[in-house]
Amino acid sequence: MAIAIKSEREIELMREAGRILAITHEELKKAIKPGITTYDIDKLGEEVIRSYGCIPSFLNYNGYPASICVSVNDEVVHGIPSKNRYIKEGDIVSLDAGVIYKGYHSDAARTYGVGDISKEAEFLIESTRQCFFEALKAAVPGNYIRDIGIAVERYAVARKLGVVVDLVGHGVGAKLHEDPEVPNFETKRRGAKLKPGMTLAIEPMITLGDYEVDWLDDDWTVVTSDGSLAAHYENTVLITEGEPEILSKAEGLEL
Ligand code: MF3
Ligand code: CO
Repeated sequence: MAIAIKSEREIELMREAGRILAITHEELKKAIKPGITTYDIDKLGEEVIRSYGCIPSFLNYNGYPASICVSVNDEVVHGIPSKNRYIKEGDIVSLDAGVIYKGYHSDAARTYGVGDISKEAEFLIESTRQCFFEALKAAVPGNYIRDIGIAVERYAVARKLGVVVDLVGHGVGAKLHEDPEVPNFETKRRGAKLKPGMTLAIEPMITLGDYEVDWLDDDWTVVTSDGSLAAHYENTVLITEGEPEILSKAEGLEL
């Protein structure tokens, strides 16, 4: 499949999807406290998304049973919310969410520490976020998809962190997952040349240990094989003639 170049109208709809998604993440950030269940987080996220007349992208996507992926500690991504899973002080919690506004998707993830967390956990969260911003610098026309992965991998490896290779970022727009795949590591092929109007979900998944992951028996939850902590940070990004534009953001809210 060719990589879709979005029209100005499509980009405008994705900006609005992204704005609502950023607001959703802000509400979830405020709610993450010891004692809340991952189920409560999901319900709150869905409520915020629907309050803007939007649809949660993930709900029923390939059978995924919730609106927000909540992945705790050694869970990397796609954790399924549960009434029995309580967040506690010292946890690190990754929240991944998607919003559909008038048929267009935005996809973004954040990782938060709950109360006092270890220095290592703090380092992991901050480094994973920075991996995204390193990737963003490479997301300019003339560069190739591979340059994004190289930027993530270089930054993570210099910090002795693990880069998950079994999951990748992706194009996003009229569908949650579009071409191209956007790996967080150096690939042999350079991949597609970046062009203005492409919209990509760039999403480093980084660990404090090894890169290897496993799937739990629920067929969704991805965990680190060595049990090390993992973090995830993602935004929907528009390639422009100049600097890339982050679409999953809202004025006055932190990225
Ligand atoms: N943000 C996730 C991704 O791009 C989507 C989660 S898949 C779902 O990979 F099934 F959980 F929705
Ligand atoms: Co994604």
